[in-house]
Amino acid sequence: MEGRRYLIRGGTPLRGEIEVLGAKNAVLPALACTLLAKGEYCLKNVPKVRDVFCMLRILSHLGGEYQFEGSNLFIDTSSICRVDIPYELASQIRASILFLGSLTTAYGEAVVPLPGGCAIGKRPVNFHEKGLRELSAEITLDHGNLIAKAKKLKGAEIVLDFPSVTATENLMMASSLAEGETIIKNAAREPEVVFLAEMLKAMGADIRGAGEDTIYIRGKKKLKPVKIEIIPDRIEAGTFLILGALFPENEIVIKNFPLEYLETPIKKFIEMGGNIKTLGKGKIKVQRAKRLSPLEINTAPYPGFPTDLQPIFAVLLTQAEGVSVIRENLFENRFLYALELNRLGAKIHIEDRIAIISGPTKLTGSPVKATDLRAGAALLLAGLLAENTTTLYSAELVERGYENLPERINKLGGSIIVEDKSSGYESN
Ligand code: EPZ
Repeated sequence: MEGRRYLIRGGTPLRGEIEVLGAKNAVLPALACTLLAKGEYCLKNVPKVRDVFCMLRILSHLGGEYQFEGSNLFIDTSSICRVDIPYELASQIRASILFLGSLTTAYGEAVVPLPGGCAIGKRPVNFHEKGLRELSAEITLDHGNLIAKAKKLKGAEIVLDFPSVTATENLMMASSLAEGETIIKNAAREPEVVFLAEMLKAMGADIRGAGEDTIYIRGKKKLKPVKIEIIPDRIEAGTFLILGALFPENEIVIKNFPLEYLETPIKKFIEMGGNIKTLGKGKIKVQRAKRLSPLEINTAPYPGFPTDLQPIFAVLLTQAEGVSVIRENLFENRFLYALELNRLGAKIHIEDRIAIISGPTKLTGSPVKATDLRAGAALLLAGLLAENTTTLYSAELVERGYENLPERINKLGGSIIVEDKSSGYESN
């Protein structure tokens, strides 16, 4: 709901254990994937975050049923009876575009509103459209709705202009029931793409090469429902890495830390003066030197430095001794959080797609506003670092991708009070 704010009291070192939950960006394509075969599915280790509930509302609108039992999500797509996604649901989440591929290939048609852009950029879906056309779907645009029709999709060789994560996922799902072979070149290599391929294979799909830049899919006539465990969320894990390093006195242990998905960010973390002690069974202890060194970060598709972690790293770079440079190469507008960090006392200068961070700077509490999910998470961390109290407005954006973050941080000795608009405050 609109209008949540967090009152974050900063300056206190944190200690204890925090667990990395399931990856939201693996669950979202997995939900679209349940349309490829009617029946009962179970997704284990699902985070209860707003983005997941948005996609579940769409699934219910289409006729699907679901229920949670703890973090296990049971879904039944036996009664799917519609192929149109209403604007008021699609406009809440860009990942709604992921239903385009699975609806078109399994039901022969789909009506999916063009997802709007968002704070971080225009975020067009032309690669999704182009790829589906190459698979012989007929796509028209009518009053902002993409209308796709196809008796049977036909395999094709598709070359993506850019290794788009959701375009790769959409086309993998669409081609899994197409006639013949599809080759997706310049495919995204993210762990969430590999997870989707695992789910499709478990459903009987014939897919190979996921995780590389070329993926081969041989369409099947029918797939079957599946039970599968969601992989850990590497962006949440990267967020906790920085949380653990906010103060040299912090003593944070992170459970379910997916080391193998975070090679580049870990290298940068160590270069900055952070340190990781592996404790075995997926547990790590986060440490950090007293003095932090500045970094140069260039965001890139996986396995490069993830764009979703640049706002999070920027928070700690405000404490590094020297000038850091972040180049954002994926989205055209992903530095809005920097203006908010400057309100806390940071010194960040933005030049188009480059942020120049001078440190160290003392941060003190102030009212700030989340502009997108990862900006919100960054500002929450900055509030924990800053002295006095930081009020984070539009905090509901943080809840799109992090389950109960204030509660989990308070268990580490943090002090975050969550307020709804209903508590009568005037949001700025
Ligand atoms: C996915 O978004 C993630 N979302 C994003 O995470 C993440 O930031 C992004 O990948 C990059 O890693 C999900 O997986 C649900 P892209 P996606 O298509 O797939 C351009 C979060 O915080 N592009 O890889 O939408 C696009 O404009 C979110 O969880 C086109 O031009 O990103 C961008 O510049 C934020 N045409 C670049 O490609 C298209 O058809 C990368 O976008 C598609 C993309």
